[in-house]
Amino acid sequence: MDRAAVSGDGWIRQVSPLIGEEEARAVHRVVESGWITEGPESAAFVEELKEYVGARFAVLAPNGTLALALGLLALGVGPGDEVLVPDTTFVGSASAVALTGAKPVFVDVEPTTFQINMADAERRATSATKAVMPVHLYGTACDMTAVSAFADERGLRVIEDAAQGMGVRFRGQHVGTFGDVGCFSFFADKTITTGEGGFVTCRDESTYERLRLLRNQGRMNSGTFIHPSVGFNFRITDMQAAMGRVQLRRLSQIVERKQTLYAAYRDALSGIRGVRVLGAAEGANHVPFRCVALVDDAAPLMERLTSHQIESRTFFYPLHLQPAFASLRGPDTSDRDFPNAVAGYEGGICLPVHSGLTVDDVARIAGVIRDHQESPQGKGTL
Ligand SMILES: Cc1ncc(COP(=O)(O)O)c(C=O)c1O
Repeated sequence: MDRAAVSGDGWIRQVSPLIGEEEARAVHRVVESGWITEGPESAAFVEELKEYVGARFAVLAPNGTLALALGLLALGVGPGDEVLVPDTTFVGSASAVALTGAKPVFVDVEPTTFQINMADAERRATSATKAVMPVHLYGTACDMTAVSAFADERGLRVIEDAAQGMGVRFRGQHVGTFGDVGCFSFFADKTITTGEGGFVTCRDESTYERLRLLRNQGRMNSGTFIHPSVGFNFRITDMQAAMGRVQLRRLSQIVERKQTLYAAYRDALSGIRGVRVLGAAEGANHVPFRCVALVDDAAPLMERLTSHQIESRTFFYPLHLQPAFASLRGPDTSDRDFPNAVAGYEGGICLPVHSGLTVDDVARIAGVIRDHQESPQGKGTL
């Protein structure tokens, strides 16, 4: 029962996970077993994920945002600390920092890949900086050689936001395994999904112990009411884990499908004036999260796509402009300090790349884009 991208009402949607009978059977088996909270499926899921990404230690989390918060707390990030976060990312990267009581400090991104710009990170680091959060955005990777060198030089902790990074490698190593901790999301639009879900990896045993304590009410194992420290309930359910295990087995099929669709986009959009499709960053592979393109002015093109019942999205709204973080803006904060994040928001467009989409759907989307770009409203300076 793989769902079609085009719903009954004719719309091409942004998100349509590849889930089917096997996931349904796996969830059903858990329900029938009577053990629905974290149990054997969760334990097996963690082991399989660890093996896939090549992590030494790991725990599950309820979602990507709480995976990041858990990772930060396990690293001892808290009030008085600053964490460097790219200006172009989902708000959850920064709200996880805020949730610990620390301050997210926004850093501009690279103009062509939209990954964190390390030269700008240098400028914004202060004596209060405790950690840097590279975010592996849009299906490719940050330059982890540069991030690690920067962090080592200053004694900073590295927390990787690999929410969108399942299957993505930098110089052959899976993202989320370079830093002190790495965090993944299994939300419905991610490469593999458990509906909601997350995963935190780490390299050393003491961080692993902190992760376990913090996620399970301040104790290492359930079944006792003696809690050595304060913690939270950041557990998941065995129903989600059972679904995740099926998804992990499908991962190569999902990746292949996304890459086929992305290649179809590349072909169909090449030669259209004013459209530049982004791809893998240097040293990294590409597991397209969306088909991400730059145009001169995204807003009218998105309107045109909507009028043809095609859902598209902007790039993430720059964090320095987010109303939620207005209190962090100083009198000198200016868009001029974040030129690439602002340009990305104005000219970036995200097109669907999910398993429910067909190559014919891609041709239909590209046809609308071509018509728009070649019309008087389309601009072509790129
Ligand atoms: C880059 C990034 N970070 C963090 C998150 C948060 O993950 P979740 O939605 O599972 O909380 C997302 C999810 O969209 C994301 O794209």
